[in-house]
Amino acid sequence: MKPREIKTGVYSAGAVDWDRRLFDSRIPLPDGTSYNSHLIRGSEATALVDTVDDTMAGVLLDNLDRLGIKDIDYVIANHAEQDHSGSLPCVLDKFPRAKLLTTEKCKGLLIDLLGIKPEVFTTVADGETISLGDRTLEFVHASWVHWPETMLTYLKEEKILFSCDLFGSHLATTDLYVRDEGRVYEAAKRYYAEIMMPFRTIIKKHLERLNGYDIDIIVPSHGPFYSEPGFILNAYRDWVAGEPANMVVLPYISMHGSTREMVRHLVGALVERGVSVQQFDLSVTDLGKLAMSLVDAATIVIGAPTVLAGAHPAVAYAAILANALRPKVRFASIIGSYGWGGKTVEQISGLISNLKVEVLEPVLCKGLPGEGDLKALDGLADGIVGKHKEAGIIK
Ligand code: FEO
Repeated sequence: MKPREIKTGVYSAGAVDWDRRLFDSRIPLPDGTSYNSHLIRGSEATALVDTVDDTMAGVLLDNLDRLGIKDIDYVIANHAEQDHSGSLPCVLDKFPRAKLLTTEKCKGLLIDLLGIKPEVFTTVADGETISLGDRTLEFVHASWVHWPETMLTYLKEEKILFSCDLFGSHLATTDLYVRDEGRVYEAAKRYYAEIMMPFRTIIKKHLERLNGYDIDIIVPSHGPFYSEPGFILNAYRDWVAGEPANMVVLPYISMHGSTREMVRHLVGALVERGVSVQQFDLSVTDLGKLAMSLVDAATIVIGAPTVLAGAHPAVAYAAILANALRPKVRFASIIGSYGWGGKTVEQISGLISNLKVEVLEPVLCKGLPGEGDLKALDGLADGIVGKHKEAGIIK
């Protein structure tokens, strides 16, 4: 994609990666992604905000050529992760006069990850500004809007917030700005669930701080830009701090049908009692969808058959993932079938220790669920409804 002007003298110069299907060797990218990089021409100095993945360095360098850039004064690294920093070595080679501006922590990471020479860096403090002549950039340290070193950059005169990974979406598109709100909402929620949710407590504080900034455009480092910042700010406020929904997420796997029968019965019992359910067969599910469902759910029930004396490995993986994502679920339980014994409950309980949940009595059955097992599942459904009522989730 050729460079495009966001405001006079402010250009989008990054790359769209239509074909990438996996991030961090674990996150599915059904819609590709983009690496947004921005060139700002001031009356006295020129700045580049973030670079692109090293696989797309050629696109960025071509775009800078197209813009006629012969010299860059400042390269700003909001984040050390390689999808934004990977092209820094090429950019610094091509523009050797440029100072690399970033946080102290990011400097350390960029030296470790990319071998960038220490003398190239100028570290910037939280709230520090630099002048480009007729334009001013303010640096807003915002740790854990993905990694501990992350920062945002605010272009004061144009009221543009370059928000790094925060508010991003893995979405390859020709749209510079949000056009299809439904599509971007889905992609941004998936991104939040997979990348930002573990840090929601600190992100809540960053959102409060951003209330003090007059923002016309939010420009994240992935996906389209927000010309109506309220769209994504309100979504984040809801995802980060909104009350959980009267909903159960039920990831499960079944080897010979017994656990599936338990899932079918429990889902029916919950729906009869007015609780919505999102169930995921882990043998085929898109884990991004599972992560998204955890943004809102009040309860997670894990359906696990016992195999080799413990939980099925696919369920163990999903439990580890849910534990790492730290969703705002309040209650949890485990259901599943076993043949002759094992430690499924103990194992799964140990894998979700990060979740601040009340654990409801698990329901395990030997072989196919019998009448007593189905009654126990009805009891679990009653228990979930009771807990949702006590917590004010069901009014
Ligand atoms: Fe888009 Fe944390 O990198």
